[in-house]
Amino acid sequence: TTKIGIIGAMAEEIEQLHRHVDVTSEFTKAGITYYEGSFHGKNVIFCKSGVGKVNAAVCTQLLLEAGATSVLFTGVAGALDPALNIGDIVVSTSCIQHDMDVTPLGFAKGVIPYHPRSEFAADEQLVQLAYEASERVFPGHSLKGKVLSGDQFIADRGTVEGLHQTLQGACAEMEGAAVAQVCDMNDIPFVVIRSMSDKADGSAHVNFAEFTVQASENSFRIIDEIVKSL
Ligand code: ADE
Repeated sequence: TTKIGIIGAMAEEIEQLHRHVDVTSEFTKAGITYYEGSFHGKNVIFCKSGVGKVNAAVCTQLLLEAGATSVLFTGVAGALDPALNIGDIVVSTSCIQHDMDVTPLGFAKGVIPYHPRSEFAADEQLVQLAYEASERVFPGHSLKGKVLSGDQFIADRGTVEGLHQTLQGACAEMEGAAVAQVCDMNDIPFVVIRSMSDKADGSAHVNFAEFTVQASENSFRIIDEIVKSL
């Protein structure tokens, strides 16, 4: 039976799930609490992973072991693509760990040595559903693109330009590619939906503080639409 897994990294990013999901049970493992219930008549399980790739990876594996048959990630990110404004939505086509760097041994930036792949493709059907949902809710404010993840809060123009040019990232955040890799290793479909809280530049810390709540709500609006349509 299908069970939709939904992850956010921070309290703001899952707050609307607490409001809208009819929770019937919960359990805690590795310090992460998983809430199970129904949302638009579908079985869902959601949780707050915590920030960064290790938290996201542990969280995702446990989510899958609890029976999630697909994974939606909801939250905020810093925009890398100059076409994106604060509040806009990025739907992941794929995810890469931008801070994986074994270049001294001859591997390209972002490549995970000896792993089958380093760029993890989101599920095409979920990407399409998410993009259509996003265009219904925020017409003209959605982009399908590459999500770059690393254990770094990006906050300068030079890094933004470098990441946009070398890895063609649409946005930067700190969990998506870890979730993506764990889903890939378990053969489970996923998509990451991120609303821009900032432009990852010199104003990022101020913008992040100001816009994270609104951007988190924007991302939830898409999750809400997707779950309805699933
Ligand atoms: N999440 C939101 N904004 C971010 C940024 N600038 N860098 C990394 N993660 C983020």
